[in-house]
Amino acid sequence: MLAAGLGTRMNSILPKVLHPIAGRPMILQLLDSLAEIEPDKIVLVIGPNMELVSDAVAAAGYHFEIVIQQDRLGTGHAVQQAQKSLLGFKGNVLVLYGDSPLITSKTLAKMLEARSSQNNPAVVVLGFKPLDRGEYGRLVLDKTGNLEAIVEATEASEDEILNDLCNSGVMVIDGTILLELVSKLSNKNIKGEFYLTDIIKISRQCGRDCSVVEGDEEELIGINSRVELALVETIIQDRLRESAMENGATLNDPSSIYFSYDTKVGQDVTIGPNVVFGPGVEICNGVTILAFCHIEGAFIEENAIIGPFARLRPGADIGENVHIGNFVEIKNSTLANGVKANHLAYIGDTRIGEKANIGAGTITCNFDGFKKSMTEIGARAFIGSNAALVAPVKIGQDSTIGAGSVITKDVEEGALAITRAKQKMVDNYVKKLRATKVEK
Ligand code: UD1
Ligand code: MG
Repeated sequence: MLAAGLGTRMNSILPKVLHPIAGRPMILQLLDSLAEIEPDKIVLVIGPNMELVSDAVAAAGYHFEIVIQQDRLGTGHAVQQAQKSLLGFKGNVLVLYGDSPLITSKTLAKMLEARSSQNNPAVVVLGFKPLDRGEYGRLVLDKTGNLEAIVEATEASEDEILNDLCNSGVMVIDGTILLELVSKLSNKNIKGEFYLTDIIKISRQCGRDCSVVEGDEEELIGINSRVELALVETIIQDRLRESAMENGATLNDPSSIYFSYDTKVGQDVTIGPNVVFGPGVEICNGVTILAFCHIEGAFIEENAIIGPFARLRPGADIGENVHIGNFVEIKNSTLANGVKANHLAYIGDTRIGEKANIGAGTITCNFDGFKKSMTEIGARAFIGSNAALVAPVKIGQDSTIGAGSVITKDVEEGALAITRAKQKMVDNYVKKLRATKVEK
């Protein structure tokens, strides 16, 4: 996997392959598709000072060998750097670009199949016919349809440049001859680079065939700029939306709903417009998510109703039939079945028992400026509007908290706790007040 490119056009201090699509670095999307065809090993070619890339790949649990390409002297040079890792390896070597993350395992499998066809091609190249051929290398075929050469756009003749079949960059190469092929590359060309694409001509000179598998442009878009990053994001979002709908979810306005790569959506889930899912969300069957919710790191059990305008943050564990209403924020909290928090609340670091009712404006004060503390609310407790529960604190089951209370001590089971000031009444106050004022 080649990922040593500088990605200059991204105009970013972050290595290009770490820019996220669907909530994770683009290179991990590609590695997941690769994992589906179960490679014997993965060799990652990165540039100097790109440890962030190897860190991210390692953190995702991948085993791989890392090769540093000190000077970026071309795609062929990049593959030459992997020589040590490939020495003695006799299988198929798949060359992928870290910045073309949409390729599917199905396409990769098709290429491997072509590699084992009867004429035993030394190289199978994934070609495609893009709408805009731009700077892509052009594939030159012989009369029998075998691949004769790849010509870079800058080096192409007037005839060759008109060729509509282009090089995606993805190749499968016979491992028994790969190192010999790349050792013969030269940099005598316009860019002064070692082009991996020249291995086609070299294979032919060695008497070996090369062939082409045609792929779909949508899978082969390379990301070189933020505009292309946004384009790839829309493609991957469409894939995620389609798969949610195929699995039995209703999306009221699919194009306004944003998923993460790992969002799990159950059957008969309904999702309203303008809902955004960050990573780590699982939604069980029958859940309704109304418009304008932002949800990440949350587990939502069957038939819960969330929103509109709710925010679920990491560690929100929402039980069956729970109702979460507008402007309610929940973080690192477990809500047992049937809890209701319908309006304007902050619930953080809290455990709430079954069927408790959290009134409008309730705040769990979980942070004292130094540390976070837990709030526990028992089953069927009724928390009146605008209560502040100062953690650590326990509210017993079946208890009631009077509206407007600031609760700093534990509340017994079944008790009423109320801390608000007594209401005063002044008779005829307004009349007396007005009598003292002169109208201007
Ligand atoms: C390459 C192909 C071109 C093809 C196009 C598809 C060559 C010579 N040309 O051109 O035929 O149509 O991809 O997108 O191969 N990289 C390194 N080290 C290097 C240079 C590149 O690791 O020294 C990596 C980059 O990070 C990138 C990939 O190789 O992932 C492709 O490099 P790039 O410079 O984008 O190649 P293109 O000029 O686009
Ligand atoms: Mg490129």
